[in-house]
Amino acid sequence: MKIRAAVLERFGEPLVVQEVELADPGPNEVLVRLLACGVCHTDMYTSSGVDPSGYAPTVLGHEGAGVVERCGEGVSLVGEGDHVVTLFSPQCGECVHCRSPLTNLCLAIREQQNQGYLPDGTTRLAKDGEPLRHFMGTSTFAEYTVMPEIALARVDREAPLDRACLFACGLSTGLGAAIKTAQVREGSTCVVFGAGLVGLGAVAGARLQGAERIMCVDLARERLELARGQGATDLLEGGPHIVEQILEMTGGFGADYTFEATGSVGVMRQAVEAARMGWGLCTVCGVAARGETLDVVPRLLITGRRVCGSSFGGLKGRDDVPALVDRYMAGDIDVDPFISHRLSLDDVNRAFELMEAQDGIRSVLEL
Ligand SMILES: NC(=O)c1ccc[n+]([C@@H]2O[C@H](COP(=O)([O-])OP(=O)(O)OC[C@H]3O[C@@H](n4cnc5c(N)ncnc54)[C@H](O)[C@@H]3O)[C@@H](O)[C@H]2O)c1
Ligand SMILES: [Zn+2]
Ligand SMILES: [Zn+2]
Repeated sequence: MKIRAAVLERFGEPLVVQEVELADPGPNEVLVRLLACGVCHTDMYTSSGVDPSGYAPTVLGHEGAGVVERCGEGVSLVGEGDHVVTLFSPQCGECVHCRSPLTNLCLAIREQQNQGYLPDGTTRLAKDGEPLRHFMGTSTFAEYTVMPEIALARVDREAPLDRACLFACGLSTGLGAAIKTAQVREGSTCVVFGAGLVGLGAVAGARLQGAERIMCVDLARERLELARGQGATDLLEGGPHIVEQILEMTGGFGADYTFEATGSVGVMRQAVEAARMGWGLCTVCGVAARGETLDVVPRLLITGRRVCGSSFGGLKGRDDVPALVDRYMAGDIDVDPFISHRLSLDDVNRAFELMEAQDGIRSVLEL
């Protein structure tokens, strides 16, 4: 079928919104009619050409939500008419990682997905007969996509899809970091570095876990105000002084849990240093530039601080994303303040400009 999609033709150039061909879903694949898609830094990062693992031409986009239009042979996990959120982090349910409660890093389709192919090593997308790759296995800057069934989370049909799409990446990453990776305990003190969608999600997650004190650190005043709306109790301006300030505010000890959601290795270091001796846990969510390393004084670890990373908030997508959407529907998570702009697919490059200018938290494309 012919669909409209935003294609990254060449790195560093604007995306080209155009008609492309989308083939029928193969075995265990699903055709999804997309209704909404958030625009995330990873899309812009790949588009810029800075990411050495990027590929082109490809249809970008990975924060999608839509409705199952048609199922390929053997599909059993979703059915026609189901509302779904796309998962760049799939859950096959069978691999050694899916069977372990300790990780969400499903191994089933990793290699092909990393290269922009569906699990059988081919693509369903093409332009003038030339294959286009599937970005992150999702390619959701489009009217339709074909995806493996293990990469779709079936969510409540009542949930508005223009909100549900945010659970496909940034928001779930932050929520999961607090709820699942760190498992913040009731009554604890948390510090979240960065008040983008990931950091704001971590603030909300810490609140849902019953944290007593939630400090949020950012450079932008407006973003800190949004953090207050998600449950932050203390708003702090970041900078070289921040570790000292946090230690002072916590009786000289530091926080029970710290979260890094900036992508800066300097801030990651601050997040480790702001964690409490004895049991402080620092959870790193940000993606650092290639080749950068995190500098930590080992004594901080000997004296009981721990550091861990969190990919997609440690969430097993098909199980945990629907549960988070249910919490949103129950009124536990306030999603609307994260949506700053609503744009059409044709305006996708505008969404990148807004992101570069740090104008708002998320632009959502209405497809
Ligand atoms: N782990 C994952 O699975 C996953 C998923 C999505 C995004 N990410 C990564 O998480 C990070 C955050 O994503 P986002 O969408 O929220 O980004 P964002 O750019 O919207 O937010 C980052 C925030 O950090 C703030 N910041 C920058 N320098 C700071 C400093 N020195 N002190 C305090 N705050 C500072 C910025 O002002 C900004 O508000 C990125 O690195 C992104 O690539 C990771
Ligand atoms: Zn993303
Ligand atoms: Zn798996």
